[in-house]
Amino acid sequence: MNLNGSAQDPEKREYSSVCVGREDDIKKSERMTAVVHDREVVIFYHRGEYHAMDIRCYHSGGPLHLGDIEDFDGRPCIVCPWHKYKITLATGESLYQSINPKDPSAKPKWCSKGIKQRIHTVTVDNGNIYVTLSNEPFKCDSDFYATGDFKVIKSSS
Ligand code: FES
Repeated sequence: MNLNGSAQDPEKREYSSVCVGREDDIKKSERMTAVVHDREVVIFYHRGEYHAMDIRCYHSGGPLHLGDIEDFDGRPCIVCPWHKYKITLATGESLYQSINPKDPSAKPKWCSKGIKQRIHTVTVDNGNIYVTLSNEPFKCDSDFYATGDFKVIKSSS
């Protein structure tokens, strides 16, 4: 057995938790950014709960760490500063309002487009904040801005 971890499966290492800061600091700022295994994430502290997600908006790569948090349909969402998409902090779902065109008097209803932003796990241990990247096997729209393809475009511009 190799104790220094150099023989670890590199696939697995990407999903080991990484310390991103101190609980005291994020409680003051209510948000922080971090790079976890080469993936940029934003961590929010909102109403006593921690939430982590890919930092770039799934729609077009907007900077979610600069958005406001508001409730829609009773669900706290980050509002992307670029085109105002609303993404739930807890699940990464994108919310929109729909109306029935055949009933113009109907009140708009909040609906979900499904999970669009990848959510990561936050844990707290001894005053330290840890983020563990999601390894949910589904394809998430925000992956495009969080992985190699987009980084190549960025660095060549
Ligand atoms: Fe976020 Fe368009 S980039 S809403």
